[in-house]
Amino acid sequence: MLSAKSAEIVEATLPAVGGAIGEITPLFYGKMFAAHPELLRDLFNRGNQANGTQRQALAGSIAAFASALVAHPDQRPDAMLARIAHKHVSVGIGNAQYKIVHEHLFAAIVEVLGEAVTPEVAAAWDEVYWLMANALIAAEDRLRTEAAAAQGGDPDDLWRPYAVVARFQETDDVVSFLVRPADGGPVPPARPGQYVSVRATMADGARQIRQYSLSGNPDGALRFTVKRVGAGASGEPAGEVSNHLHAHLNAGDVIEVAPPLGDVSLADGDGPVLLASAGIGNTPMTAMLAHLAATGSTRTVVSVHGDRDQLTHAFRAELGRHTAELANASAHVFYEQPLGAWPQERTGLVDLATVPVPAGTTAYLCGPVPFLRSVRAQLLAAGVPAADIHYEVFGPDLWLGQDA
Ligand SMILES: Cc1cc2nc3c(=O)[nH]c(=O)nc-3n(C[C@H](O)[C@H](O)[C@H](O)COP(=O)(O)OP(=O)(O)OC[C@H]3O[C@@H](n4cnc5c(N)ncnc54)[C@H](O)[C@@H]3O)c2cc1C
Ligand code: HEM
Repeated sequence: MLSAKSAEIVEATLPAVGGAIGEITPLFYGKMFAAHPELLRDLFNRGNQANGTQRQALAGSIAAFASALVAHPDQRPDAMLARIAHKHVSVGIGNAQYKIVHEHLFAAIVEVLGEAVTPEVAAAWDEVYWLMANALIAAEDRLRTEAAAAQGGDPDDLWRPYAVVARFQETDDVVSFLVRPADGGPVPPARPGQYVSVRATMADGARQIRQYSLSGNPDGALRFTVKRVGAGASGEPAGEVSNHLHAHLNAGDVIEVAPPLGDVSLADGDGPVLLASAGIGNTPMTAMLAHLAATGSTRTVVSVHGDRDQLTHAFRAELGRHTAELANASAHVFYEQPLGAWPQERTGLVDLATVPVPAGTTAYLCGPVPFLRSVRAQLLAAGVPAADIHYEVFGPDLWLGQDA
């Protein structure tokens, strides 16, 4: 609930703050990391800092939250914060750190906007910040308590050592790791579609955290699957953690893993399900499909996957196997550059024109943003309501607050 006075001031200053947010966020992170270098080294994803995506996600979320408050000052738009809360708990941020972010964010705002930040303006935006922070803190407390109850131990330190019990080469660039708690304790429950965070110590001593969607839980263990990120065509460096895991994580090794989290997961129900993925985006879809097969689901299940070719397509065999196990399932695979003649697959990008989309479908999407946009537009055109289209994105979510 935003006070009427603050709502008025926030509405009046939203264009100025929104317009300057591209300047404010780098300054904010610069100030925060100068005061707390350990946060960049051991908590934040330094790849996302270097490529700018985390800054855009933070800026987008604040602007979207403030806009929602201005539109409905009597409601706190908590639902849009679920993704952030899951991510925060997964990486292990603590409530006390909200003061640190507040201090440096507001210092950056004052530096960029100067005299426009009168005491009234500062107080109104302070209210927005703490409404958002308190909503996140409450959601994160709940998630931490649940996760600690499920895996045992301290809610304020959810990291646990896991032993790699097996490693599988899925394709040239994709490796799966099957892990179990190193102390022999129970494997925490996961909903199909959720991810784990993995914390790896890099050559320079930094501890870097990345998320990996679970690709299933064969033999009651957790399986996550990592695609090695190569150097970019415009000189971007190769991904540090994915290449580190490929090069150094083998059966018998131990790695720190946080419990399964993530707000996108297969909901129970009887209605038709469409699972659409591209490239390595099929990790959560593989877990969802395996779950449906393992529980003998009679739901109509339509899998759609796009990849470069047969050899880059991880879980190709699992897709075929689980589709055959299910009573009412079909799989539709598109290869951009198919190797030879594979009559059961199609050539080109994913195109839903030839894919059945039954009435009442709930859709789950995961893949690069252009793929998500294209498939979402095709589903909307096919009559699937926006509320029934859920997506996971393998990086900071830059869609937050937009009609997604
Ligand atoms: C919810 C979620 C689930 C995920 N699930 C999976 C999964 O199942 N499987 C999977 O493989 N991945 C998954 N990911 C992605 C994964 O977390 C990592 O982002 C991925 O492995 C790349 O990490 P990295 O450390 O190798 O790359 P990073 O080092 O983080 O680099 C990331 C990108 O930034 C670029 N970059 C880095 N530094 C610079 C710079 N100085 N200038 C310009 N560009 C730069 C890199 O070139 C690269 O393209 C998921 C992500 C999320 C958020
Ligand atoms: C109101 C305050 C805050 C807002 C609005 C906010 C917003 C966000 C957003 C939008 C994301 C990206 C989520 C996604 O799509 O994946 C994120 C991730 C993250 N946040 Fe926050 N956050 C806040 C407070 C904090 C605090 C206090 C910390 C701790 C210092 C923190 C640390 C992180 C980290 C480490 C990530 C993951 C970053 C990455 O791996 O790239 N955040 N936050």
